[in-house]
Amino acid sequence: MATIKCIGILTSGGDAPGMNAAIRAVTRAAIYNGLQVKGIYRGYKGLVTGEIKEFKSQDVSNIIQLGGTILKTARCKEFTIPEGRKQAYENMQKEGIDALVVIGGDGSLTGARILAQEFDIPCIGLPGTIDNDLYGTDTTIGYDTALNTILEAVDKIRDTATSHERLFFVEVMGRDAGFLALNGAIASGAEAAIIPEISTEVDQLEEFIKNGFRKSKNSSIVLVAESEITGGAMHYAERVKNEYPQYDVRVTILGHVQRGGSPTAHDRILASRLGTAAIEALMEDQRNVMIGIEHDEIVYVPFSKAIKNDKPIKRDLISVLKKLSI
Ligand code: F6P
Repeated sequence: MATIKCIGILTSGGDAPGMNAAIRAVTRAAIYNGLQVKGIYRGYKGLVTGEIKEFKSQDVSNIIQLGGTILKTARCKEFTIPEGRKQAYENMQKEGIDALVVIGGDGSLTGARILAQEFDIPCIGLPGTIDNDLYGTDTTIGYDTALNTILEAVDKIRDTATSHERLFFVEVMGRDAGFLALNGAIASGAEAAIIPEISTEVDQLEEFIKNGFRKSKNSSIVLVAESEITGGAMHYAERVKNEYPQYDVRVTILGHVQRGGSPTAHDRILASRLGTAAIEALMEDQRNVMIGIEHDEIVYVPFSKAIKNDKPIKRDLISVLKKLSI
């Protein structure tokens, strides 16, 4: 710890509500502990190009309630090649940054892991993605807010679905993970969720028609996780048109609306706890770990575990949805 005097902080990959709360927490916890903080703009891109600015406590005032990220975010090609990473390292040296806190999803944590390996820099990751697909934490920053955005949208779609007696396929984000679709379906009272995790096991459309779309219901909502594995909502709507032409089908793709908005209390508290713990971890000489919360306790998860391990869907949730959608 004696060597760490200044930390750099960046957000990378897809933005997620609560990232600003995390930036605030990291900055304030670092300053509280006597460290200097530098904000790096546009993710790894800013590290390569040297878009870096010192952050004081007031630089993170009034941001806890904001969606998006004040540091901006980007996907950076230069950082994927060794020359780009060398440039990033040189900029860190020039700025006196001797540890890095990275907020993002698996791609962002992979970047931190490589940088740590190549240049022996202490890196701490915070799970920031609406997808909730990082192993080693119960939820990721932004997931709860996205889930609530989905609820709001599905509640509205239900009004028109009921009035017209239609079957709606609502596509939600998740990049090959079904957390938003499955929990979104349970929370909104949707009739089914089609998720990549069980795509190879069962024909989820067949199951739904057989079990879920009962005669007692004349409208229905199915949440579909975006994914090449599921094929997305359009694919299922096409199938219904061909295989069950008696149903009046519509598709809604929620898209990037799910990434915006003021973070929920859950995401703000999560981001505040994780951000504070990131600084504590650095002070305890922890390095190259993602900070997570499991069973309400802070945990340190080695990057290799957080990135590589697939986070499993809780199977009992599938059965809850099935039982409640009769
Ligand atoms: O990882 C977050 C996420 O929103 C995914 O759910 C989605 O597949 C992807 O990012 C969309 O990325 P982009 O904003 O680059 O289109």
